[in-house]
Amino acid sequence: MSPQPLDKSSGGDRKPVTVPQIAEMKRAGEKIVMVTAYDYPSAQMVDEAGVDIVLVGDTAAMVVLGYDATTPVGMEEMLTMASAVRRGLEHPLLIGDMPFGSYEGSNEQAIANAQRFVKEAGCEAVKLERGGPSVDRARAIVRSGIPVMGHVGLTPQTASALGGFKAQGRTAETAAKLTEEALALQSVGCFAIVFEAIPSAVTEALMPKLEIPVIGIGAGPATDGQVLVLHDLLGVYAGHKPKFVKRYANLRGESLKGLRAYADDVRAGRFPNEEEHTYSIPRKELEDFARYLEDEALVGIETPWDW
Ligand code: KIV
Repeated sequence: MSPQPLDKSSGGDRKPVTVPQIAEMKRAGEKIVMVTAYDYPSAQMVDEAGVDIVLVGDTAAMVVLGYDATTPVGMEEMLTMASAVRRGLEHPLLIGDMPFGSYEGSNEQAIANAQRFVKEAGCEAVKLERGGPSVDRARAIVRSGIPVMGHVGLTPQTASALGGFKAQGRTAETAAKLTEEALALQSVGCFAIVFEAIPSAVTEALMPKLEIPVIGIGAGPATDGQVLVLHDLLGVYAGHKPKFVKRYANLRGESLKGLRAYADDVRAGRFPNEEEHTYSIPRKELEDFARYLEDEALVGIETPWDW
């Protein structure tokens, strides 16, 4: 018998989500829920919430690392985050987002970096942006045995070439270009595709042409599923909020409340509280210790190293 992967599922009915299952969900008309995550605790939360796909997106550059674009983030940073997410995840399909500069150079470069997401971070698939030259890269990665998710419309890695962070496909010509890119990515074997910031009427018109699952972000309700950036949907990120984001929580506000209350308590001497947050010592030990402090001529301990 050939070796099988360990079943990490912690009981219950939920089994790890697979690439074929995502295709099956489209066939069954079941909406696919995708979200980003970048660390261990958020991976645990999105898993517990029952999402289908987790993307370690290069949006981490902005929402986690504080850059003003997605382009500066590199492979090492992405792999560190993807590995942390892997450790917190049991059920959703895990996708690593190939950062800018990690796949454009050649098919060999694209395969090598896609393999790093699988081998070093335990991802099940990778995502890359754009049609055009990326179609060749997607084909090469798929042929190497790694499932690929495409991404068309507003592709943040090339936002400056697109004229900024703007909706795409708002003219017949650009909608046709977008269609060609999506169909090309489908034809080379991408298992799914992200549509970002595309008019909903364009998405709706395009959907019958796509056999693979389409996951939308700012592309209207006609797609097979939706994706949002975790820090946008939970209200953690203080930067620009795109029109397509719906806030489901205000974690930033809640966190600020908690932090301010902590600072107030420390300053007012209310924290730590003697009964709740401190350790005790038996009276006898304390008395012995007090005697030691009185009797001994305490001198500083010599440190063997040179500061
Ligand atoms: O990097 C990312 O988070 C993404 C999603 C917005 C799809 O590409």
